[in-house]
Amino acid sequence: MKKTTEITIRRPDDWHLHLRDGDVLKTVLPYTAELFGRAIIMPNLKPPVRTRPEILSYRQRIVDCLPSNHTFQPLMTMYLTDETSPEEIRRCTNDDLIAAVKLYPVGATTNSEFGVTNSKKVYPALELMQELGIPLSVHGESSGPDVDIFEREAAFIERDLEPLRQDFPELKVIFEHLTSKVGVDYVLSSGKEVAATITPHHLLITRNDIFAGGLQPHMYCLPIAKREEDRQAIRKAAVSGDPRFFFGSDSAPHLVSSKENAPGAAGIFNIPTALAYVAQVFEEDSALDRLESFLSTNGARFYQLPINSDTITLQKATQPLSEPKDLSIGSDRVRVFRLSDPLQWIVTEGLKKTSV
Ligand code: DOR
Ligand code: ZN
Repeated sequence: MKKTTEITIRRPDDWHLHLRDGDVLKTVLPYTAELFGRAIIMPNLKPPVRTRPEILSYRQRIVDCLPSNHTFQPLMTMYLTDETSPEEIRRCTNDDLIAAVKLYPVGATTNSEFGVTNSKKVYPALELMQELGIPLSVHGESSGPDVDIFEREAAFIERDLEPLRQDFPELKVIFEHLTSKVGVDYVLSSGKEVAATITPHHLLITRNDIFAGGLQPHMYCLPIAKREEDRQAIRKAAVSGDPRFFFGSDSAPHLVSSKENAPGAAGIFNIPTALAYVAQVFEEDSALDRLESFLSTNGARFYQLPINSDTITLQKATQPLSEPKDLSIGSDRVRVFRLSDPLQWIVTEGLKKTSV
């Protein structure tokens, strides 16, 4: 059979993205805006984006940094806290200001200090969200002194998610950045209310990569990469075409000075290489015919948004591509996610050009 060397798909969306603020926002945003139609913007700034005025203001700061001819649309989220009132959520949904509400269990990850301490505290908010059909986006990790870091996703399902879903069976839930076989099995055993995002890096790395030849801070993110059998389960879910699994980069830029540090910050910036790596995975698993479902249609359908009408084209490189360059920010840098082998795919058409 002839090998596919070029593929055209609807323009993708990113259903889980950290853009930050200030200089970092300004530097990273064009890389997303040239490729993606829309992205779900994570609200874990310092301080977090919790209220209608804060969300409006953050959205404006993003729009102000967009290159002039880009049509990229940021889809905003609200950071859920023990104090979030149902009224605040209602105020943000009347005019579709938010696409989802984000639940960080307190202490689970970067800037989660204001997160939820006990899901019972947010039951009034969840009640309203279930009624209005507003999705709950969850950072699916329970952390605590008794939970092994590699078991956090399993603990979250058992302690938090399943009890919550028993009480709110019709609430739409996005299990973000799925990393384990247990997580995949949970989504598969749930109804159509539960979906999951999958990152490019979790399709490619395991926990071995964090320790290969010494501690590798640029392979460290949360949820932490797991075993090979987990990676295989994630890959199988992603390439399956099942509408409950879709792309969320979880691209999370940190300056190199805070990654190569003690403690090193959790998060991987992957936008410049994300689509090439996802295409590579789908090619390796003989699933290029399902690349569009994963990148461009499953997520939009779950969020009940229109599918993008324009397209991008990816091509298999005929000669080894050069290493992606880190981004400079002042005297510091943001490292681009990369593996030791050269990239094999490249976006050749559909890049939105930046005019200055
Ligand atoms: O590795 C991560 N980085 N995981 C998260 O959940 C948050 C993110 C960040 O904001 O840096
Ligand atoms: Zn994230």
